[in-house]
Amino acid sequence: MTTLPAGPPAGPEHVLEQFRDLAVGPTRFMTVYACYELGVLDQLRKNDGTGLPAARIAEVAGVRPDAMEQLLHLLVKEDFVAYDESSGGYRASGLARLSDDEFVRAIRLMTMIKEVCLRQLYYLTDSVRTGKVVALEKIFGFHGDLYEACAEHDELRGAWSAMMDQTTSLIDPWFFENVDIGYGSKVLDLAGHTGLGAILTRKYNPEKNLQVACFDFPEKREDALENFRTHGVEESCSFIGGDVYDGLPKGFEVVLVKHFLDQLGKENAFRVLRAVYDCLEPGGRIYALVPTYPEDVKESSQADFFPAYFLGCSTAEGGPQKVSTYKQWMEECGFTAIEKITHEADKRPPEMIHVHSILCGVKE
Ligand SMILES: C[S@@+](CC[C@H](N)C(=O)[O-])C[C@H]1O[C@@H](n2cnc3c(N)ncnc32)[C@H](O)[C@@H]1O
Repeated sequence: MTTLPAGPPAGPEHVLEQFRDLAVGPTRFMTVYACYELGVLDQLRKNDGTGLPAARIAEVAGVRPDAMEQLLHLLVKEDFVAYDESSGGYRASGLARLSDDEFVRAIRLMTMIKEVCLRQLYYLTDSVRTGKVVALEKIFGFHGDLYEACAEHDELRGAWSAMMDQTTSLIDPWFFENVDIGYGSKVLDLAGHTGLGAILTRKYNPEKNLQVACFDFPEKREDALENFRTHGVEESCSFIGGDVYDGLPKGFEVVLVKHFLDQLGKENAFRVLRAVYDCLEPGGRIYALVPTYPEDVKESSQADFFPAYFLGCSTAEGGPQKVSTYKQWMEECGFTAIEKITHEADKRPPEMIHVHSILCGVKE
């Protein structure tokens, strides 16, 4: 007889607790983010460690003391802030353990969630029903996906782009440790946004004399070229504007496809993989960087975020797959000798939602 794995405790209590935890997700998020927007997190982090009374914090923030006191309860509960009963003072505790850089990283993540996800997810059900990002229509009057909307809406572009570049900056040291690009190769960074991936390709492959082209929508050209100039790589990095579904320029030895296949459904992922296959020289390689589910989805933090994000906020299709699925897709699109590696848990930045894998395939 098969023994079933031990499940959660029997009875309704545990399940009801789970629903309670789900129900308070948005309010927990906004309580902390409002404290950030009111300057309270900065006030407490910059204070010398002596406790500040709620009335003083409220005065600096320009809000009522009783409202301030209410918001502070969650910060105390989370140990972000400590409260001294005897003096009535609040001081940073968990918040004080973050360096300035770590604090900025955490806030960029929160800002992206507020601008790109919070309101938009109200329409998740409609997006799933219609296959469109309904929120962009309802909130911005925009018909299309998040990337097209970013071209017109600064608040979307600012929050999303800062978060995207942060994720890429954090993961690329690991990515390039596991990518083997030959000396003098012509490299295409497909869907390369405003060129950070191309710049990092040069940075993490010094002495290899690589020529790197960033391919993305034409409206990213000016920002990409400006980034190349700022980083002094304008001789070795170029920008090609276009839509991948209209085909890619040919003649590359390596194509990098980072954070792109995961936001596409199978049909569009195949169109992209086939376009990559066509643009590679014989013997050329694709390196795909994707968030992936483990074989057992229960071990995944990604189910918490990516399905809702892609379906409700970004492209209304796609979502991460298991490594085995991506491998099969790459094989069906003609790639051989597929190798794969997943980012080890102890090497991941703690706040990163992604569990990344790299898949490499060869065009014979
Ligand atoms: C999630 S971002 C990844 C950016 C970059 N590769 C990275 O890892 O930082 C996806 C990128 O795909 C681009 N993109 C989306 N659809 C595209 C299309 N049809 N053709 C070309 N680029 C596209 C978007 O503009 C965006 O820059």
